[in-house]
Formats: sequence, C-alpha cells, structure tokens
Amino acid sequence: MPDMLMSALPEGPFARLAALLNGIEAGKPAISLAVGDPSGPVPAFVREALDNALTSFGNYPAITGTEIWRQAAAGWLNRRFELNGAVDAEHNLLPLAGTREGLFSALFPFMPHSKAGAKPIVAMPNPFYQCYAAAALAGGAEPLYVPAYKENGFLPDYAGLPQETLNRLVAVYICSPSNPEGAVADEAYWRTLFALADKHDFLVLADECYADIWFDTPPVSALTARLRQSGTLSRLLSFHSLSKRSGLPGIRSGLVAGEAALIARLRAFRNVAGPTVPGPLLAASAALWNDEDHVAANRAAYQEKMAAAQRILGARMTRPGGGFFLWLDVGNGEDFARRAWAEQGVRLLPGAYMGRDVSSASDKEKTQGNPGFSYVRIALVRDLSTILTALERVKEIL
Ligand SMILES: Cc1ncc(COP(=O)(O)O)c(C=O)c1O
Repeated sequence: MPDMLMSALPEGPFARLAALLNGIEAGKPAISLAVGDPSGPVPAFVREALDNALTSFGNYPAITGTEIWRQAAAGWLNRRFELNGAVDAEHNLLPLAGTREGLFSALFPFMPHSKAGAKPIVAMPNPFYQCYAAAALAGGAEPLYVPAYKENGFLPDYAGLPQETLNRLVAVYICSPSNPEGAVADEAYWRTLFALADKHDFLVLADECYADIWFDTPPVSALTARLRQSGTLSRLLSFHSLSKRSGLPGIRSGLVAGEAALIARLRAFRNVAGPTVPGPLLAASAALWNDEDHVAANRAAYQEKMAAAQRILGARMTRPGGGFFLWLDVGNGEDFARRAWAEQGVRLLPGAYMGRDVSSASDKEKTQGNPGFSYVRIALVRDLSTILTALERVKEIL
C-alpha cells in the first residue's frame, strides 16, 4: 500500500485485542470487561416519544435538529453547567449522530493549509479515544500525542509544549472525565488551557461525554470554566452524549455546544457533509435531555460498581474522578490481558492499545515509550454480580 493519510493510524483497540487473544482458550466461563458498552435500560418514555414522532421518518431531518430538541438540549446545558442562558438554542449548539462523528468531523471546517509557516498540528492526550487521531490525519494535520502520566494527574501538559509547537496548533482535544483514566480537569486546568488557546490562537475540542458519570462531585465543564473566565464561549466546542449520560449508545445521539461563530461555521459544513439525526431519535433525545431521574439512577449504579471494585481491589486501584473505567497499573498491560483471559476468562483491554509510542516519554523503561504500556482498562459496564465475579478473578492474578 502506498503511504496514505491514514497509514499512521493503527488498527482499532478491539481488533488488536482480538489478535492478541486469538487461539487462546478462556480459562473460565468468559466475561468481557473490554468494551465500554453501557447497555443501559431504556426508559419507558423513550418509546412514547418515538411513537409520537414516527411520521417524521417521511422527511429529511434538518442538520440543526428540531425546535423541541434544541430547547431540551440548551435547557440541559444551561441547567447542568450553570451557564445562565449562555447557550442559546438557535446559535450555540448542534445535534450529532453520536459524539464520535462530531469529534471526527469538527476539525475540518477550521483546518488551515498551514499555521506559523508550517504544517498545522492537532494535539491530543496520550492515551486517548482513537477517533481524535483519525480526525487529525484526515484533516491533513500532524497529530501530536501528549502524554498523560500519573504524575500530571493523567492530564496532558499542553502548557509545557515548546513555543514553536504551540504556534502551529490548530486545535487540541481534551477529554474530561477522560477515557481511559477517568481523570477530571479542574477549573484551573481549563483556565490555563484557554489562556494558551487565546495566546496561540487554537480551538479547544472538549470531549465531555462522561460528564454525568462521576463519583464525588460533578466535573467542572469546559463551558462553565470558559464562561467564568472570559464571559464568552470563545474558541470552545464541547461535546456531550446520551451514550454515557443515559446509557444508550444505540440511539446514536449527542451534541456539540460552543461559540456561536464556530457553531455557524460547523453548521454550514455539516449542511453539506454532515450526518443528520432522524426525527424520532431527536424526539426521544429531547425527552432524555429533559429527564434527570434516569441519569441519577444510571450514575448511582456506576457508583455502586466502583465502590464494589474498591472493596475487592483495595490499594491496587485508584478510584477515578468520573467515567466507568478502571485504569489499573499491572506492570505490562498486554501480558496481564493475556493472562486474565487464559487463566481467568476475563477480557480486558491493554492500555497500550489506547495509546501511541512517543519517543519523548520520560520514563521509557516503564512505559516502553507508550504511556498506556503498564496499564489495563477495565470497563465496569456489566451488571454488578458479573463485575464482582470478574474482579475477584482479576485479583487472583494481580
Ligand atoms: C472518550 C469518548 N469520546 C467519545 C465517544 C463516542 O461516544 P458516542 O459516539 O457514542 O456519543 C466515546 C465512546 O466510547 C468515548 O469513550
């Protein structure tokens, strides 16, 4: 194959896991905690909303969604993140067919041919949700993988990048609570990042799709932090999803919110090239954004699972600030995942598959250049008793 834009993109984490475990028999009845598939119960009101909007299958949906969806989504953002109405339903948001497609395509309408006289750079945490790298490559930018080590709270130190790099930045991705580590950016982190964005003229693409799964206090949103800092949402696009908040990834419904000028440009681009969300799904999504009861129940279930994990794993685990993953330091993630499967029948994701090798890794011996090397990611998405069984088995080999 000739060298192509996507040549630098490795196979996805789950294809790599399948290859790693290929031909190895599960040592016990199999349990997978590899994929973060929330498998939530569908609230009864979703069916009603779908039914009432069924005739809209007869029309092309608008890229901006429906009035009812926009009001529900803006209402949720303003309430949930205390934005005092700063998110205007008509100007500051758009529906997404799941946040993944939005995170992927949001870069394109903002990509210059060059920046500071060189190829544009898009920075992202390392490890990270792999879609960010695909977006950077497809946009013709240079992806920059910025390590998120334990020492810096598993958040990338963008402020520590060299000036020449910062000047070439077009955008940074930042995930909070993060997949895979569950790290949460506090207000000071957001402020530093936005100050950097103002100084070096780049976009902040805040992937906040785990914002409603937290353990002690709700994470500060990039939206809140930006508004408090500057009175505006400038340079910010913030992404939210019903996949995690409502535990319904199959509905493929999320949103992007941010500065009106950015949303206008994104809307124009999406009008030509973006996927729309079907009418009945917009109606169901509006009902979901309007309801907090199912979200509270969803969060409580994760809190119970996380507490159970702590009882079993004790000091071997660090409780994350948010999200539903355990990020467990096991020395060598691939070896551990192989053993967990072969000896205990538990499928886990090696942390390295969420990361990239970076030559600048400071602790190269331990990380082998990949900040995810010594970790496994464990998704607490199954029912409680299955998770308890799986974690007891994991403990056996720790
Ligand atoms: C960090 C992160 N961002 C985005 C997504 C995409 O979510 P969705 O497209 O279901 O909204 C996921 C899904 O696993 C994720 O983990």
